[in-house]
Amino acid sequence: MKFRKGFDESHVNALEFGRVAENSGAAMVTIHGRTRAQMYSGRADWDIIGEVKAALSIPVIGNGDVFTGADALALRAHTGCDGIMVARGAQGNPFIFAEIKAALAGEAYTQPGEAQRLAMARLHLQRAVAHKGQSAVIEMRKHVAWYLKGVRGAATLRAKANEAATLEEMLALLERAED
Ligand SMILES: Cc1cc2nc3c(=O)[nH]c(=O)nc-3n(C[C@H](O)[C@H](O)[C@H](O)COP(=O)(O)O)c2cc1C
Repeated sequence: MKFRKGFDESHVNALEFGRVAENSGAAMVTIHGRTRAQMYSGRADWDIIGEVKAALSIPVIGNGDVFTGADALALRAHTGCDGIMVARGAQGNPFIFAEIKAALAGEAYTQPGEAQRLAMARLHLQRAVAHKGQSAVIEMRKHVAWYLKGVRGAATLRAKANEAATLEEMLALLERAED
């Protein structure tokens, strides 16, 4: 079961909610350390994740603001959580899971270079189109924009990606980006 810290700062109920979940037979819970009212504003409250972890016997997964391997280590150290859930940090960066795995194992990790990130963007695009058809190209525009983060000339490429309507157009753009 996945839930937030609470509805708003006057209704913080993650601890109570976690207990009810466990007593009702939930096998595992995930907590995003923000209230519903907060949406994505402010920092995720990792303290509440630690409080729920301390109170329950079932596995507790921590969630909120993990964008690097170091963040994952910090969240685990702060809360004692049994697992880490990543959402926005994986957008345009599926490599984050390898980074976190290495961090948790205390192993060295090398960030992917530009060519590797663009190759991943092409693979993602091809698979999305194979799975959903050409309409996936429109949906992929935002993903391509995320993959282009840090790539030289990203602003121009993003503008072009937002106009690409076919697999061929989008692929051509991602291939040119490597030049
Ligand atoms: C594209 C996207 C879709 C999401 N869909 C859901 C959803 O269906 N249900 C849900 O509980 N949370 C959903 N979330 C929220 C995330 O699961 C997560 O709790 C939140 O983004 C905080 O984690 P983060 O800091 O790693 O992004 C979604 C987040 C993103 C970015």
